Amino acid sequence: MNSDIQINKPTPIIPGEKIIKFDRSTDVRETIYAMKGGATVVITEFYNNGMLLLKELHKHLKNRLPNKTFSEQREFRGEYHKLSNQILVEITDFEVALKKAPKIGWIKILYPENDQFFLTFSQVQGLNSAWQWYKNGISVPVLRNKIHPYYGTYFPTRFDHLILFDNWLKRYEGAKKSAIDVGIGSGVLSFQMIQHGFQKVFGTDTNPNAIVGLKEFMGDTKLSRKIELNHGNLFATIEKEVELIVFNPPWLPAVSNLENIDEAIYYNKNLFPKFFAEANNRLSKDGKLVILFSNLAQITKTSKEHPIEKELAKGVRFKLEKCLKKTVKKASDKTKRDQNWRGIEEVELWVLVKK
Ligand SMILES: C[S@@+](CC[C@H](N)C(=O)[O-])C[C@H]1O[C@@H](n2cnc3c(N)ncnc32)[C@H](O)[C@@H]1O
Repeated sequence: MNSDIQINKPTPIIPGEKIIKFDRSTDVRETIYAMKGGATVVITEFYNNGMLLLKELHKHLKNRLPNKTFSEQREFRGEYHKLSNQILVEITDFEVALKKAPKIGWIKILYPENDQFFLTFSQVQGLNSAWQWYKNGISVPVLRNKIHPYYGTYFPTRFDHLILFDNWLKRYEGAKKSAIDVGIGSGVLSFQMIQHGFQKVFGTDTNPNAIVGLKEFMGDTKLSRKIELNHGNLFATIEKEVELIVFNPPWLPAVSNLENIDEAIYYNKNLFPKFFAEANNRLSKDGKLVILFSNLAQITKTSKEHPIEKELAKGVRFKLEKCLKKTVKKASDKTKRDQNWRGIEEVELWVLVKK
C-alpha cells in the first residue's frame, strides 16, 4: 500500500480583510447583515457563541426565505451553507481557541504541523462529532469488537444489511481462502468475513481516509496480516482470483454531475457496469458475488432502474443464485412522516454466480 496517500480534511482558512469579532455582546442582526455583505465573522470568548450565531442565522433565513417546495428548500440550504461558512473559529496549539470548547483529538492528528489557523464553526462541529464516534467506538451487533471509524469515513448506523450478510456467511459452504471487499469503509464486512474464517481479504476504497484509518486501526495486529488494503477505484490494483467478492455500494443514483458527490451514498452511472465487468475477471469459476443493496432509490422515487437487475437482465456474465430481503425497522414514526415515503424499506442481499 502506498503509505503517503493524502487524507481528506477541511482546508485551513486564511480570513480575508473584512473581519468582525462575535461574542455575546455583539449585535446579532448587524452581524448577519454584515455577513450578507461578505464579512467574515470570527467567534470569540465562548464556544457557545458559535452555536448561538448559527442558530440565529438559521432563524433569520427561515423568516425571510420561502422554504416549502423542493427547490425552495435547496435554495434555503444553499444560502445557510454559504453564510454559515463565513463563521470562523481560530485553532491555536491544536485546540479550539475558545472557552468551554470540546477537546477534539483530530486537530493534532490531521494538522500536526499547523498550530495556528482557522476553520469554519461548522467544520469544527463536524470534527467534534467525528471525534466522539472514533473515541467511543460503535458497537455493531454482528461484530465481536467495536469499530472506531476514522475521520471522514463511512460507518453503518443501521445494521439490517449486516445481519443479512452474517446469516448468509453462516450458511456459506464454499472455499474461504480469499475474498475482496470493494469499498471497505470502516471495515465491517471484512471483519465479518474474517470472523467467519476467511483467511485473506483484499479491501479497496476510493476514499483515502478509509484506507489510512483502517491501517491505523489494525496496527500490526493479526488482523493486519489478514486484511490487505488498497487505495483506488473498484478493484484498484487487485488482479487476484477470489472465491467471494462483496460490495456494499452507494444505494442512490447521483442526480447531478457534481464532482463533490458523497461516494459512500451516491453512485454515478458508470459505477455498476464497470464493477460487473471487473468482478467477472476476478471471480473464480464457482465463486460468489455478493452485493448488499436496498430499495431506497425505488421507494423514494429517485430511480426506476435497479442496477443489479439491469445486469442480470443482460444475461451475459452473471446469473442469480438468490436474493435475500429484510424489512428495515423504522427509526420512529416521526422520520416516517418526514420522509413521506410510500412503501416499505427493505435491504437486499444479492448472490450472483458466473453463467
Ligand atoms: C456504503 S459504503 C460501505 C462501506 C462498508 N463496506 C460497509 O459496508 O459499511 C460504500 C463505500 O464504498 C466506497 N466507494 C464508493 N465508490 C467506490 C469505488 N468506485 N471504488 C471503491 N470504493 C468506492 C465509499 O468510499 C464507501 O467507503
